[in-house]
Amino acid sequence: MVDVEALLDAARHQVDNSRAPYSRFHVGAALWSDSQIFGGCNVENASYGLTLCAERGAVMNWAAAGAPGTPGAIAIAARGADSGEWSLAMPCGACRQVLIELPGSSELTVWIWDGTSSRSMSLLELLPHAFNAADLRSDEE
Ligand code: THU
Repeated sequence: MVDVEALLDAARHQVDNSRAPYSRFHVGAALWSDSQIFGGCNVENASYGLTLCAERGAVMNWAAAGAPGTPGAIAIAARGADSGEWSLAMPCGACRQVLIELPGSSELTVWIWDGTSSRSMSLLELLPHAFNAADLRSDEE
């Protein structure tokens, strides 16, 4: 069973690890799998397009740990450095696409912290009709 409060706490904590000198938008994420929490934060680069999002960082940490279990939930928190305010940040399209390839992704819940409370939605709601491995198969072969 996902410990949502612990997951949201971990995502909020990861916001402090974010390296975002260009956008000044600090994002933290935490992926729950096998009763463990895998954190990630956005890491920006002077070559802007190389920036890594927090959600994908969390997925990489889970993979680097040997991909234990089936991820059940991911929590996301974000704060603007200038305002210092929490901000509800939806996962970007690239991160949705990466999340959809996780095992059990049809059951994955996304929790988003808005500074006061959290909202949850299913990944399938966020990315219906996704491109996936089946689309790579060709009948011509
Ligand atoms: N960002 C994330 O970390 N996750 C998202 O899903 C949306 C965007 C980061 C990337 C960049 O460092 C900053 O937020 C502003 O786009």
